[in-house]
Amino acid sequence: MRIDILCLFPETFASPLNQSIIKRAREQGLVNIAVHDVRDYTHDKHHTADDYPYGGGPGMVLKPEPVFEAVEAIKKQLGVSEVPVILLTPQGRLFSQSVAQELALHPHLMLICGHYEGLDERVCEHLATDQISIGDYVLSGGELAALVVVDAIARLIPGVLGSQDSASSDSHSNGLLEYPQYTRPQVYRGWSVPPVLLSGNHGEIAQWRRRQAILRTARRRPDLLEKGNICEEERKWMLENLLSPK
Ligand code: ADE
Repeated sequence: MRIDILCLFPETFASPLNQSIIKRAREQGLVNIAVHDVRDYTHDKHHTADDYPYGGGPGMVLKPEPVFEAVEAIKKQLGVSEVPVILLTPQGRLFSQSVAQELALHPHLMLICGHYEGLDERVCEHLATDQISIGDYVLSGGELAALVVVDAIARLIPGVLGSQDSASSDSHSNGLLEYPQYTRPQVYRGWSVPPVLLSGNHGEIAQWRRRQAILRTARRRPDLLEKGNICEEERKWMLENLLSPK
């Protein structure tokens, strides 16, 4: 998969894209990520990328020309025409695990990071094919949002995680939050690992995990439960246990 990121602050990406899972995925050639500076596509000697808003008001607006020209130049250089061009903006559709799964199916994506107080609307209307928000809050720019999107997508690319199982048991991948995990020591400061996890009984462990995932989701994110496909028996068990202490 290839991801081209267009932004005004390319240095933002250096460290996060060179750590851990993403670093390894890039080294293995599973994902090719290129970061482009929109200012490189300006033509004046000050590399002006923003200007005052028509109609007045506070703040500056990112100009359309360098953004259009950057997208067009990159597409031309790569010899591609149909690529999803995704704008990161608080006004976009809400990002989620299912949006990450949908985007991970594309062989190539272009991400545009908005900045300053705004972006010329013609970019939204005539260049972007999709607009994504990572949550109902406003960041200083789209760079951190793009990193969130790239990270969530990259770990879904086959081969990126050690075993595909780790992505499929992640929180949200089955509509539920993930079950609690434990490692050694068996007793830490008097707190013991639930005995079922030491039993070696895989059926019982799987049932315990499933039930814990349901209980945790019901307590913390009841809004997600409908997507969790829980059966009648599980629902009954959940209602019986919901009020008991954790
Ligand atoms: N840019 C600024 N805030 C954002 C958000 N919440 N999501 C995506 N891009 C953004």
